[in-house]
Amino acid sequence: MSVKDRLIALFENNRGEYLSGARIAAELDCTRGAVWKAVKSLQEEGYSISAVTNKGYCLDESTDVLSKAGIEKYLKGGEGLDLQVFRVVDSTNTVIRDLANNGAKEGTAAISGEQTKGRGRLGRSFYSPSDTGLYLSILIRPEMSAADAVKITTAAAVAVAEAIEQVSSRRTDIKWVNDVYIDSKKVCGILTEAQFNIENGGLEYAVVGIGINAYEPRGGFPDEIRDIAGAVLDKPIADMRNRLAAEVLARFMRYYKELGESTFLESYRQRLMWRQEKINIINGSTVTPAVMLDVDSSCRLKVRLENGEEKLISSGEISIRHAQ
Ligand code: BTN
Repeated sequence: MSVKDRLIALFENNRGEYLSGARIAAELDCTRGAVWKAVKSLQEEGYSISAVTNKGYCLDESTDVLSKAGIEKYLKGGEGLDLQVFRVVDSTNTVIRDLANNGAKEGTAAISGEQTKGRGRLGRSFYSPSDTGLYLSILIRPEMSAADAVKITTAAAVAVAEAIEQVSSRRTDIKWVNDVYIDSKKVCGILTEAQFNIENGGLEYAVVGIGINAYEPRGGFPDEIRDIAGAVLDKPIADMRNRLAAEVLARFMRYYKELGESTFLESYRQRLMWRQEKINIINGSTVTPAVMLDVDSSCRLKVRLENGEEKLISSGEISIRHAQ
């Protein structure tokens, strides 16, 4: 590990406390010059570190910068996770896909504070500005049928919803299949991309990509999404994104291991938006009015059409909107 990475870990374990240059140099087994250089570089990355003569360096209690050490500090469970944390990447899904193609193991996760080419569902882009969001992707190598694969995404939605409630105390809703909402605004989107084996048609791996608007971006959301997008919190609180990442990762890995028993399903149902309300089912340019009833154990949507017929809908390329 570099001096900088070890320094982050040391600061993370002593937030709000002054550590002398001599003490840091001794603990990290490097020169005081190397400590100073690492501090400068961290400050440039957005860490709020105070430097006071005769006292040393102190990482502000309120800092909210993503780091591996910062996430691991809050990680309870989540065995088998291998975290790679970045300041900026094109897309964490792309990072994980490349690692997966090179044999990375299940549980490898990429976490970034910014994406330059964030991808969304249905070929859309996903707005991923710096320092206000949390963008993460997890590699899994499940042995399951394609029909069960939808459960991966719904389990991820539950992991996110519960994690947000845990760190922010705000109530979340889930819009089928996998968007997480607060107060009728979307705060999280999930994109699961799967790689199938050409020879046997089985699932080789899947990349579960999660994007959360932790705070409102500086200058607000772009016009195109202003009416639908929301943020978990109005203003930064200490270490929120590290805590959120840890909660999401640990909960997702637990639900994923228990996927056969669908232990996430009850929590999903409790948060399902628009139950017993009128919706429109959108499939390309076709709009079908219906009443939303529930989800079944395979997370298919149960609806009643206008002619009274009850139908089960699988996710695929379909989305739903609330009918006025
Ligand atoms: C959607 O709502 O359309 C899904 C958005 C998924 C965005 C996440 S952010 C992390 C991961 N990397 C990506 O490029 N996309 C997913």
